Amino acid sequence: MSAPAPIAPPALPAAAPTWWRRPGLDVVGDRLALNGHDLDALLREHGAPLFAYDLARPAESVRALQGALRRAGLRYVTRFALKSCPDPRILAVLRGLGEPGTPEGIGIDACSPGEVLHALANGWAPDSISHTGTNVSERDLDVLLAHPIRLNLDGVSQLERVGRRAPGRTVGIRVNPGAGAGYTDHLAYAGERPTKFGVMPDRLDDAIAAARRHGLVVDTLHFHAGSGWLGGQLGEFEAALARATVMLERLLDAGFAIREVNVGGGLGRVAREPEVPVDLDAYAQSIAAHLAPYDVTAAFEPGDFVMKDAAVLLAEVVSVERRGDVTFVGLDVGWNVNCAYFIYGYAQEVVPLVAPLRERTQLVTVAGHINEAGDVFAEDYPLPELAEGEGVAILNAGGYLAAMSMTHCLRPTGTALYLERPG
Ligand SMILES: Cc1ncc(COP(=O)(O)O)c(C=O)c1O
Repeated sequence: MSAPAPIAPPALPAAAPTWWRRPGLDVVGDRLALNGHDLDALLREHGAPLFAYDLARPAESVRALQGALRRAGLRYVTRFALKSCPDPRILAVLRGLGEPGTPEGIGIDACSPGEVLHALANGWAPDSISHTGTNVSERDLDVLLAHPIRLNLDGVSQLERVGRRAPGRTVGIRVNPGAGAGYTDHLAYAGERPTKFGVMPDRLDDAIAAARRHGLVVDTLHFHAGSGWLGGQLGEFEAALARATVMLERLLDAGFAIREVNVGGGLGRVAREPEVPVDLDAYAQSIAAHLAPYDVTAAFEPGDFVMKDAAVLLAEVVSVERRGDVTFVGLDVGWNVNCAYFIYGYAQEVVPLVAPLRERTQLVTVAGHINEAGDVFAEDYPLPELAEGEGVAILNAGGYLAAMSMTHCLRPTGTALYLERPG
């Protein structure tokens, strides 16, 4: 598996990055604006941490994906990976896209009983919710089996336990096809090296036997190659897809009428140059080609692809300090609200709110206010000279981060603003 190589620091001075400019997030009068709102003014008014969401962006991203799926002639269903953003304001936008199960609508993929209940409370019917969980306990099953949702089971043990409690139930099997793709190796959820997810090829016969023993009706094959993979990695995803179809054949040969192949989520978002986005048409066409021999619906569970670039995180520069040969730019937010780099190694762009396109003249480490040395957001990162008190935006902050926020060090999780797109 070859995750993208780390991005080399540029020669200084460097031009400000501009790849992220788009309708909704742009520079207006030399100030950064989201949907026409001056972000520096919002930061001064509300303080940090402040997540500013573009309410139009999740729908644009869903439409972009669905458009490619349609053009490829796929029969498809989309389900939003709820863990990436359980925020009711965002869910209302997604629920409003159309009836789940129709080409325009979007269902929910949940990974815990709490998420299933949250999806139900936010307007999704049980048959538009799938649950793809791991290490699901008997207590989890008390809740999950009480609702007629789609259940994807990710191990032989899960098949046995669900089979004992609900013989004859319809289920899906999550497999690890033995190949994966991710923004980093850590984010590949499948591959030759076993991960904690899914039934590997050498245990598929055991899974089939368990399903048969309990009369389970297996109608779905599920795999999730990994998260955050980008344009250059389509081949890695395709390798996982090809191996998944081999497992599909084995389930069909065993007599299970598989109606859905769920290819998971994982589509990444560009975070820095020179990363390149996934070509959605190539992705959709590849899936269409691999699934053409089978009478199946393709299911998609995007999370970060829908949410990652739908919000920015605003913060104030509280210190600029030289330590040894490193300049630290310290912000008044921490990894408790932005764990992207600390936990996942995701790159993020940091953009000054005023004069955002200033030339970048120094390489710095951007750090947070949590008392841990690993609480940094970027290293060897080019920024302009910044004054203490200036505001900055951390881009690509819309997926997972707010949902994963915590009050570590009793630092606040902050505020969220939801901004409509004018017109
Ligand atoms: C089963 C499953 N589906 C979908 C997703 C969503 O992934 P992403 O946000 O990378 O699209 C995940 C993420 O971990 C997952 O485990």
